[in-house]
Amino acid sequence: MRIKVFTLFPEMLRPMLGQSILGRAIKNGLLEVELIDIRDYTLDKHRSTDDYPFGGGAGMVMTAQPIVDAIAQNTEGFRGRRVYLSPRGRRLTQRIVEELAKEDGLVLLCGHYEGVDQRALDSVIDEELSIGDYVLTGGELGALVVIDAVSRLVPGVLGSDESSEDESFTTGLLEYPQYTRPADFRGMAVPDVLLGGNHADIEAWRREQSLAITLERRPELLDAAPLTDADRETLRRLKRAEALALPFERLDLKRADAFPKAWVNAFVPEARRKEARKHCLSGRRHVGHLWRAFTMGFVQATEPRPWDDALLYLPDEGLLYKIRGPFPDPLPAEWGYVVLTDADMSRTLLRMPDGRTYYAEKERT
Ligand SMILES: C[S@@+](CC[C@H](N)C(=O)[O-])C[C@H]1O[C@@H](n2cnc3c(N)ncnc32)[C@H](O)[C@@H]1O
Repeated sequence: MRIKVFTLFPEMLRPMLGQSILGRAIKNGLLEVELIDIRDYTLDKHRSTDDYPFGGGAGMVMTAQPIVDAIAQNTEGFRGRRVYLSPRGRRLTQRIVEELAKEDGLVLLCGHYEGVDQRALDSVIDEELSIGDYVLTGGELGALVVIDAVSRLVPGVLGSDESSEDESFTTGLLEYPQYTRPADFRGMAVPDVLLGGNHADIEAWRREQSLAITLERRPELLDAAPLTDADRETLRRLKRAEALALPFERLDLKRADAFPKAWVNAFVPEARRKEARKHCLSGRRHVGHLWRAFTMGFVQATEPRPWDDALLYLPDEGLLYKIRGPFPDPLPAEWGYVVLTDADMSRTLLRMPDGRTYYAEKERT
């Protein structure tokens, strides 16, 4: 992949291109990045590259001549796409990155000041790309973002232990949580399933986590993601549980004034976490709590399998719950860890050892 960056500030890019994976790819010849200083092509006797905007307004506009000449003189026989980094452009996504990675080469034009004379764009640019809905001082960071994201897809750039296949967006979903050693970090344990060595269980757990995180944070991605029937069933179950994530106002904080913060992370959707923490820590209002549950309950499943319901008896609390399945087969040896529950504990979310969350309704006490 050959990338030519046209910029007034080549030194802004150089440090990033010499480091880590990008640096290695360039050194190994898998990636060629040429930084071209637009100022070297100006025909202005003061070496100027910008001027006041016609029609008035704040700031300066980069003049067309040095840009057009710089690109024309450096792209003879060039095959690929010529991109201007711009907040007006198509917003960069992993799909666009995949498209760009298929090109033989890329031209990346970095604007500065108030932008670039439109005639330069009309002459030498195929497409405008934005790296997000905000305004930067220049296109250099955008160019680096494009180079970084595209180069990861160039064969050989990532080592065998740095796969790009399983990641957020590549699968159409956001990525599942990752853990590394130690298995217990300051009281926060790695989910049991990841330590068990059963690859099918691990895959299933990761898939469900990906679906759950995508549903919580970027539900619109699910519309385009390739989903199996099992995924759709998982999503139905997750949505049921989500619909039951009770408003904090209905939960009783007083009953659990000391609980590990990790529980908040496990149960409260990220969007509400700040609010939950604030309320939980303040302890003043009846707004929400994560209820320490039931380490050893007694489960009696209804027949036949696959079970749709099970009964969970919680000896400490003297409560009997009806739990909606379906349940894993075989059933986990232990039941119930942490639950999110409403004040009278009639509706509960249970996190099971398999990492799944179940909804439970109180049957009788
Ligand atoms: C201050 S901005 C110019 C913004 C321009 N006046 C506008 O309102 O669209 C200067 C340069 O930063 C770059 N830039 C700013 N925001 C960007 C974004 N979100 N994505 C890509 N490039 C961006 C562009 O190259 C742009 O020419």
